[in-house]
Amino acid sequence: MIDDLWYKNAVIYCLSVGTFMDANGDGVGDFKGLLRRLDYIQGLGVTAIWLMPFQTSPGRDDGYDVADYYGVDPRYGTLGDFVEFTHGCKQRGLRVLIDLVVNHTSDQHPWFQAARKDPKSPFRDWYVWSKTKPADADAGVVFPGVQKSTWTRDPVAKEYYFHRFYEFQPDLNTANPHVQAEILKIMGFWLQLGVSGFRMDAVPFVIATKGADVTTPAEQYDMLRMFREFLQWRTGDAIILGEANVLPKTDMDYFGVAGERLQMMFNFQVNQNLFYAMASGDTGPLTKALEKTEPRPATSQWGLFLRNHDELDLGRLTPKQRQTVFDAFGPDKSMQLYDRGIRRRLAPMLQGDRRRLEMAYSLMMTLPGTPVLRYGDEIAMGDDLSLPERTCARTPMQWSTEPHGGFTAADTPVTPVITDGAYGYKHVNVADQRRDPQSLLNWMERIIRMRKELPEIAWGDFTVVPTGAPEVLALRYDWRNNSVLVVHNFGATSREIQLPSGAGAGESVLLVNLLSQDHSPPDAKGRHCILLEPYGYRWFRVGGLDYILRRSDV
Ligand code: GLC
Repeated sequence: MIDDLWYKNAVIYCLSVGTFMDANGDGVGDFKGLLRRLDYIQGLGVTAIWLMPFQTSPGRDDGYDVADYYGVDPRYGTLGDFVEFTHGCKQRGLRVLIDLVVNHTSDQHPWFQAARKDPKSPFRDWYVWSKTKPADADAGVVFPGVQKSTWTRDPVAKEYYFHRFYEFQPDLNTANPHVQAEILKIMGFWLQLGVSGFRMDAVPFVIATKGADVTTPAEQYDMLRMFREFLQWRTGDAIILGEANVLPKTDMDYFGVAGERLQMMFNFQVNQNLFYAMASGDTGPLTKALEKTEPRPATSQWGLFLRNHDELDLGRLTPKQRQTVFDAFGPDKSMQLYDRGIRRRLAPMLQGDRRRLEMAYSLMMTLPGTPVLRYGDEIAMGDDLSLPERTCARTPMQWSTEPHGGFTAADTPVTPVITDGAYGYKHVNVADQRRDPQSLLNWMERIIRMRKELPEIAWGDFTVVPTGAPEVLALRYDWRNNSVLVVHNFGATSREIQLPSGAGAGESVLLVNLLSQDHSPPDAKGRHCILLEPYGYRWFRVGGLDYILRRSDV
């Protein structure tokens, strides 16, 4: 049964085809290149791949402006190559999720072109129009500083159209039943080609009411149930992983009280508070975020991430907390974006400090949910702040010390490969790290292997075990007579903590270290005294020397 809900105990690896591996030497990554690297991805131990948009697109928002939902952009290959790729994944036991960007299309999409040219076109009502500029047109932009308005006048239609994001991304009128039917058709198409589900882009905007007269958009949650039902009629184990940066009080509306809507959502609440904890050493707000996002239906799951392809959005922190994170991880204006976030990759934010990197990823692997790792993070890739907006953290994968990091044989890669400085491909690349048993890459493989052996984290309930130290977070997971305890020190100094008897269970037990021989026996009163080094972390199985999960209980 537990294996049917594969996403509950998965490890997801996300990548964009265009910057992963170029096989045909034209400077752009492609499906053929990705196919050649599948053994690498499988070797990491991840269980699913999430592909960022690869459909036909003018590429003005890195593919999040789709011009044909049923095709592969010719730069990346053909539909045939895509099917070879999903087949290759299937052979290796890897699931595939793809981005589903249906809040908006590209303005080049034939639907929009038809809609703007002819008011009587059936596609006219696929978009959201207004004869006059709505009063609140300049409010609610998603990319402040770059995007000026949410309504732009189209000279051909001679009307204003609504766009939550950039002006070249007109919003679809998702309340229109024809649009809804088309969204289902798109899902059905890719399911047929072998995907196991979708990372649904901008979910709150997809389900929001839209229109010139809408002052406070309302969520049409039932749409989520409709998407979900369709998905499962077609493919029982397919899922939707929603991008929904929402307040905890609406989490259950997105999951559905009986788990009948989204199977997964990214936990933005935990993400932001986690960075605050890393910046301040204070785990209090993170603990609150974990507790607030704890309620979820048994079949649902959080997606946990550190950095993704967008900016690190800190918009839900208080101004003071946000400033603390800026000061610690992105003090320079050039590192910040959209007045709310940091656009750097994780490794430079943590100054390449191996102790801090390990602590951060150890945390991501052991917080309640399914970890989502971004390509290049496994080797601690850096960013290129000379590139605009979010592109700085979307540079090509660094495979080796060959020109352009072995990403392409062309002279000009699609995005420049990081060449100079400590994060240049000569210092940071897969080939070198593979040969070094102590590398971050090999550490990552080991930690992923162990994480997969801990379904308690994926399925169990957690309790926060008091440590007496605000900079040390201890979480205990209990599930079917198995327990795991994970401890993380967010502080820059070593710290001795004392855990209550039985690590919170009130009995005398041995804590078996899962990552080293350094086990922790109880004292006479059943308590555990643990000395953590700066940014130290521990993974323990609670009780017994049998560190392997008691499978008979599962
Ligand atoms: C989501 C994506 C982002 C994109 C936007 C518009 O937020 O993560 O990359 O720009 O949607 O599609």
